[in-house]
Amino acid sequence: MAILSIADPDFLEDPYPAIHEHRPSGVVPNVDHGGIWLLDSDEIRGAVRDPSFLSDPEKADPEAPITKVLKAAGLSIFYMDPPRHTRIRGLVSREFSPHRVKEMLPEIETTARATLDELPGGGLIDIAATFADVIPMIVISDFLEVERELRADFRNWALTRVKNLFDPKKNRSPEFAEASRSLRGYFTRKVEMRHREPATDLIGRLVALTGVQEGDLREDEIIDLLNLMPGAGIITTADLIGNTIHALLTHPDQLEAVVADPSLIPDAIEETLRFDTPALSVGRIVTEQTELCGQRVEPGTWVRVMTAAVGRDPALHPDPDRFQIDRAHREHFAFGGGTHFCLGAHLGRAEATTALRLLLERFPKISLAKGDDVAVRRRVPGFRGLDRLMVQLD
Ligand code: HEM
Repeated sequence: MAILSIADPDFLEDPYPAIHEHRPSGVVPNVDHGGIWLLDSDEIRGAVRDPSFLSDPEKADPEAPITKVLKAAGLSIFYMDPPRHTRIRGLVSREFSPHRVKEMLPEIETTARATLDELPGGGLIDIAATFADVIPMIVISDFLEVERELRADFRNWALTRVKNLFDPKKNRSPEFAEASRSLRGYFTRKVEMRHREPATDLIGRLVALTGVQEGDLREDEIIDLLNLMPGAGIITTADLIGNTIHALLTHPDQLEAVVADPSLIPDAIEETLRFDTPALSVGRIVTEQTELCGQRVEPGTWVRVMTAAVGRDPALHPDPDRFQIDRAHREHFAFGGGTHFCLGAHLGRAEATTALRLLLERFPKISLAKGDDVAVRRRVPGFRGLDRLMVQLD
């Protein structure tokens, strides 16, 4: 039976054989983080949405290896529960509303066009490194108003954090701690500056919400929130763009359909979220003794909910391992669910739609390069994307 270990090379290469094999048991031990994996679609729907499944690591088994990592990582609302979660999410959700994302669209489009302008007019190219990875990094740097001269450092801190967070061998390494310290120090300085020099930029708007009354945002809460954004919004969106390009190039009939009718691009992106989701799972904590797939689960147990299993469940999707844009029915939990449903879902979808539309407009004849190692998967536990994707542009 395939090993279900988040850092196992076979799992990193392709997690779906292991997911399909373990799906019938529904619950298997999480050897990397402590707690269990949940793979059954009905139980996943329940766990993601059930408000009695919580997120604050203070409520989790203190001996589980991931508890210490998440306590130290400062992941803000990701690993917070109501009423604190409700209060902070409520204060910042307007920054991610469909209206706000619409305002950002012209800038996203300019970024995507400028990134395309940097590419050659034809020939062989790594589209993951030169395009898919580039756009979300610039969009989030713009969103957080990172100064031009600090963007290279910011990129390194953000990527080191997200690439190592769920990796059992690296998430307590000095490199991870150093990147976390640097990113936090950067945002601490920015928040202090906005206290001294108020402004209407994002950090200025958040600082304006701070105060002494109950319900006001606290300074450390803003810093945690800002700290979470690069990890949440960069690699996930880069992987959505890269995985969609890869899926289209490896399913030429689907590519042809999208090039002929670009209004299908949003459907292609939804199909990627089902078929090759960038985030494989979400974390929850059981707080009352319960049963999952017939197994007793004690309070404090971490449940790593394998949301990727729903998208490939053959009971929900005929021929689940096929990328097919015009599916009559599609269900996925690529953005999680319940009270923690991804705040950046509109933004991620908008970036991916814009990137794909402009890429296919500029290079309608794009195809997968020939040869070995043209598509190289990332080795980032918890996420699924491509480090390299060689394409022929013309
Ligand atoms: C396509 C790209 C993206 C994917 C696949 C994705 C996926 C996810 C997932 C799986 C969760 C956990 C939900 C849960 O626990 O139920 C989440 C939460 C979150 N995401 Fe995203 N995300 C994406 C883009 C973004 C972007 C662009 C941002 C912001 C810049 C963002 C910000 C957040 C935040 C703040 C949360 C925590 C919400 C909460 O706990 O209340 N995400 N995302």
